[in-house]
Amino acid sequence: MKIACLPGDGIGPEVMAAAVEVLATLPVDAELEELLFGGAAIDAVGDPLPAATLEACLASDAVLLGAVGGPAWDGSSVRPEAGLMGLRKALDVYANLRPAALPPIDLVIVRELVGGLYFGARGVRDDGTVFDTMEYHPAQIERVARRAFELARTRRSEVCSVDKANVLDTSRLWRRVVTEVSADYPDVALRHALVDSAAMELVTNADRFDVILTENTFGDILSDVAAAVAGGLGVAASASLGDAGPGIFEPVHGSAPDIAGTGNANPTAMLRSLALCLEHAFGRLDLARIVESAVERAIVAAATPDLGGSATTGQFTEAVLASLTQEEAWTATS
Ligand code: NAD
Ligand code: IPM
Ligand code: MN
Repeated sequence: MKIACLPGDGIGPEVMAAAVEVLATLPVDAELEELLFGGAAIDAVGDPLPAATLEACLASDAVLLGAVGGPAWDGSSVRPEAGLMGLRKALDVYANLRPAALPPIDLVIVRELVGGLYFGARGVRDDGTVFDTMEYHPAQIERVARRAFELARTRRSEVCSVDKANVLDTSRLWRRVVTEVSADYPDVALRHALVDSAAMELVTNADRFDVILTENTFGDILSDVAAAVAGGLGVAASASLGDAGPGIFEPVHGSAPDIAGTGNANPTAMLRSLALCLEHAFGRLDLARIVESAVERAIVAAATPDLGGSATTGQFTEAVLASLTQEEAWTATS
């Protein structure tokens, strides 16, 4: 397996180091290639997604990504975040799976990732008006809806599709296409919710959701809300998948400039993203579960400050590695 490794900026490289260490202890044949990306790539070569990085990602079996962005590039004409959107588009990873699990909460947001407001027409008019446009083609909605229904079948068979159909034409299209797709999944219960009330329900009753299907911008916002009610951004992972080609596995959080360099970053979100990579790219759900449970034990034994503990990123990672070593011994003798 060829893994393209894109540490990026801020705490990106700090949490990526943990993932690289953990991956090295696992019984898999993985060849890692570290590549320039984001603000670091702007500084080095003037481009957040250099051609060499994109080529290596396209030739890989999976992309592990830390985080990009930070105040250093806020005024820059080309932003680190543009590299991230360019990479997602180039790999056509349209289905972004963002699980949030903390008993009794157990949900997955399926966020459409390569359409909508992020990729619609934009520009500036003569009078100074600036515009971004939310655009969706029915086929873009259909393919991500199918992913959500398929995923729901492996879980509790419930999809809540989130839109703003009381106002937006794109949302009325969204609702129509999702309803049509649902005819192929009679065993899956579908309900529709408006994004404002869905946001409230996520805060007050997140345990009511199984699979949440939504468009790009709503999914961005709702996934931070879901993270907040299920342990925080430090623990929220994601998998971005297309139909063929490599997926991108990255935390939901950003580069956390406020704690970068302090040793306070929680690498759980990155390690859970590695677990999603093991499941989806390597087809090794067994190893994914082993990493997940080692991370859970480390949260108990050596929590980072965001979870009320005082462990550093490195100490947390050591606890994960120690737990994995025990697991290995246990596996060997059982
Ligand atoms: P952020 O997610 O970086 O941080 C929000 C808050 O959560 C901060 O207080 C931070 O310290 C905390 N936090 C985040 N991850 C943590 C972790 N692993 N451990 C402990 N605490 C953690 O959001 P922001 O500050 O709004 O954005 C900073 C930069 O990151 C921006 O440039 C933004 O565009 C970028 N960003 C990138 C990605 C990505 O690369 N996928 C995602 C989100 C934001
Ligand atoms: C995320 C991030 C990105 C997004 C930004 C950094 C472009 O917030 O992955 O959630 O909005 O998709
Ligand atoms: Mn986000």
